[in-house]
Amino acid sequence: MQIFGNLLRTSGLGRVVPVVVGGLVAAVVLAPVSASSWGGGSTGCANSGCTTPFAVPLPIPQTLSPTSQDATTDYYTVTEQPANLSVIPGKTTPMWTYNGTWPGPVIKATSGRQVKLHVINNLSFATTTHLHGAHVAPSSDGGPVDLVPVGGTRDYVYPNNESARTQWYHDHVKDLTGKNVYMGLAGLYLISDAQEQALNLPNGAYDVPLAIQDRTFNTDGTLAYAPSSSDYRTGLMGDTLFVNGAAQPYLKVSTHKYRFRILNGSNARYYTFSLSNGATMSQIATEAGLLSKPYAQSSITLAPAERADVVVDFGNVPVGTSVTLRNNSGWNGATDIMRFDVNSSTNDPSTVPATLRPFTPLSASAVSVRRTFTIEQQRDGMWTFNGKMYDSARVDANVALGATEEWTFQNKSGQDHPIHMHDINFQVVSGANSSSSGPNSEWKETINVPSWSSVTVRTQFPDFTGIYMFHCHILEHEDHMLMSQFKVG
Ligand code: C2O
Ligand code: CU
Ligand code: CU
Repeated sequence: MQIFGNLLRTSGLGRVVPVVVGGLVAAVVLAPVSASSWGGGSTGCANSGCTTPFAVPLPIPQTLSPTSQDATTDYYTVTEQPANLSVIPGKTTPMWTYNGTWPGPVIKATSGRQVKLHVINNLSFATTTHLHGAHVAPSSDGGPVDLVPVGGTRDYVYPNNESARTQWYHDHVKDLTGKNVYMGLAGLYLISDAQEQALNLPNGAYDVPLAIQDRTFNTDGTLAYAPSSSDYRTGLMGDTLFVNGAAQPYLKVSTHKYRFRILNGSNARYYTFSLSNGATMSQIATEAGLLSKPYAQSSITLAPAERADVVVDFGNVPVGTSVTLRNNSGWNGATDIMRFDVNSSTNDPSTVPATLRPFTPLSASAVSVRRTFTIEQQRDGMWTFNGKMYDSARVDANVALGATEEWTFQNKSGQDHPIHMHDINFQVVSGANSSSSGPNSEWKETINVPSWSSVTVRTQFPDFTGIYMFHCHILEHEDHMLMSQFKVG
């Protein structure tokens, strides 16, 4: 199914136009836009997508149904396929998708129950599907050279021994991850568990994923993915912000608490999120699942691939008013992400308990090995760890199964780098902003390493042996060799 395939919207100022989304017709008033704020001149476009803020409803990505289930396993099938989608007004955008939608369908897994994901590759190039954040055997990790050929299939096995958390899956082909993700190959994968369910957090319709991605379009509606050499340095940023595949959408909410699972699924853009009414967000989870307690945050910065589950309480917001989710980060503007329109009042039995999940720090005395990886950009534009470009035949760290190690990422460049390790989660022990007291002081799986500084993480390598990646998650850096491998066992 195409979630928002019938977006019959003409451009115009202050006109009422029908918007057809998933078969529902709604009258939407397009607000007049002041020409001075466009920067787009006579085209009347604020951005390459010529979109109007808050004109389309937030799509909720479809939840994938299992093809079958047995005592231990849920079986899912996803088809990688081209699709022509309507994501900006009046244009058709050819994309590469999971099951024909952008983002792909949501897979809802249960902690302790295995998922077998059958991927059919109906695209015209080889792919690989990586479940980002998953603790899996290397054979199911979707590494950059572990390809599914054109017309081929692959069965990925995810044990889901992790606790509840917000993960995502995306393509991971060597040199092409940036392009493939930009073209649409990403989706959410949510794990729940009994402990989380018992917390009485907002759930059901009050548990909403927000997958945030930025895109730039050519005038014919095609996606403009053509990184220049300066994009190899900064990463490639789009000029139009999308949430769940809709440009700057609105969501009708009631006077209730909502759990928003925010994914920064952008190739390179960082966001600093805040609410226009000055309210705090209760951050209840990182990429690595529930925190020990909720952290009240007036703003939250997420680098590419980072996630934050937050609870926003609209309980005191007057019906008939709106709250905007903003991006305060300076990179290329792009301020308004989406708008919450409070349009009904409702009783709210949900809670945000003062304690969520116990957090046990890994002890420094258990650390047996310390390693340092220095990040630099070489003269040819390629990025390196310790002077070496990614090579699938080379392993840069041999780790004993079960070992506790400390890894320092030393950033000798003027760019920030969100470093992500496959297979494991880690604890930041020094270096990252607010590492000593904020949510980033607990379990993480992607951490920003600011320019000209270093971050040290402590981790353990349990269960699985074999070769895994670690890399920068600015996809243009990853595709320009800022990737390396460790081997467990
Ligand atoms: Cu999200 Cu190795 O990736
Ligand atoms: Cu990953
Ligand atoms: Cu980087």
